[in-house]
Amino acid sequence: MIEYRNLRVAILGAGSVGAQVVSLLLKHGDELAQRSGAGLELVGVAVRELDAPRSAQIPRHLLTTDAEGLIVGADIVIELIGGLEPARSFILTALNSGADVITANKALLATHGPELFEAAEQVGAQLYYEAAVAAAIPIIRPLRDSLAGDRIVRIMGIVNGTTNFILDRMDTAGETLESALATATELGYAEADPTADIEGYDAAQKAAILASLAFHTTVPIDRVYREGITGVTIEEVDAARKAGYVVKLLAIAERLTDRETGVEGVSARVYPALVPRTHPLAAVHGAKNAVFIEAEAAGDLMFYGAGAGGIETASAVLGDLVSAARRHVIGGPGVAESTNANLPILPISNVQTRYQISLSVVDQPGVLAAIANLFSEHGVSIETVEQSVSSTTNLAGETLATPGATLVIGTHEASESDLSATVAALNSSAVVQNVTSFLRVEGS
Ligand code: HSE
Repeated sequence: MIEYRNLRVAILGAGSVGAQVVSLLLKHGDELAQRSGAGLELVGVAVRELDAPRSAQIPRHLLTTDAEGLIVGADIVIELIGGLEPARSFILTALNSGADVITANKALLATHGPELFEAAEQVGAQLYYEAAVAAAIPIIRPLRDSLAGDRIVRIMGIVNGTTNFILDRMDTAGETLESALATATELGYAEADPTADIEGYDAAQKAAILASLAFHTTVPIDRVYREGITGVTIEEVDAARKAGYVVKLLAIAERLTDRETGVEGVSARVYPALVPRTHPLAAVHGAKNAVFIEAEAAGDLMFYGAGAGGIETASAVLGDLVSAARRHVIGGPGVAESTNANLPILPISNVQTRYQISLSVVDQPGVLAAIANLFSEHGVSIETVEQSVSSTTNLAGETLATPGATLVIGTHEASESDLSATVAALNSSAVVQNVTSFLRVEGS
């Protein structure tokens, strides 16, 4: 029997992910030791309440409320408590005492990543975070290692399962956003307070992490442009379907050229967008996640799978544990985070995109020409125009003094600033009653 060197593993947090990590580690510890070349001794699990109900049983003698005491003396610390504090302080304590750290904490990385990576580098430790983006889907390591020799052009990710579930229900079951959200809550996808998901904060944190990795540049969370899905209507989803699109909340990280300076930079953004039904991301249903990568040499790649869930996320955490243990066995300093490209972060105004704009307009001679003029004045080229049958009566059947029509206008690619100036001009035009929808088109 091979005698392995023992590595002391401490786990902070025994929520849905932590409890599953403990359970799998206790069940498959021998196999993981063989793969790592080191014994993985679980020395304790720090929790707030010893008697709280858990999704998997944890032997009582492993539980402690003394997180600090557990961290000191551990070779590898797994942080699964979430939130900014005390997670940040615990991770700093662990790194400063020379332990490698594994975390699934996207909010912390998106907010304090540079500080934590710096602390790891100072002591030659390493911070692993495969579970922080899209949970079970291997995406951190592919970006960090497998694609390190390539140049990423663009990443488009469906990285929030709750919003994908909601938009998918609106598309496939005709539910309103409110009803689909209620279903998501019932099924346990959405949190009691769904704000972080539906307003795009969760996806923005993941966009910051993906953009930093892909472009070797620190991308702070406050430089990620963000729109959530709360404004998406069932009418927009229906119209999208008829036009061959599906609405998806996308986290996009892209290499762009600054329009003013000509300098290359990075754009990171989150918004609901129209995706052609022929695009691989359109086939991502329910609460599943997927990350689509366009790389200069590798071409298009897609990573698909579970973006949440206790045991699924535990898979990514344990993969990091094996990596960390292997590194301990080999010795030497951890691999520092690569931010050497240090590209400027570009504002949303630099993005080139296509819009699909729906307007209700007065139906009288010259209106179409006036609207076309507004687009041309802002340098935006129209690709498609569709006008629906005019309505000459209101809902009560009374004849309207000024009959209305609905126009759906698709544009060619234009800058975000020109497009938003066009929408502002439409909003204040006398012939436009209402701009009922404007959505960006991505992936075509
Ligand atoms: N709340 C997230 C989602 C999972 O719905 O995908 C954790 O990031």
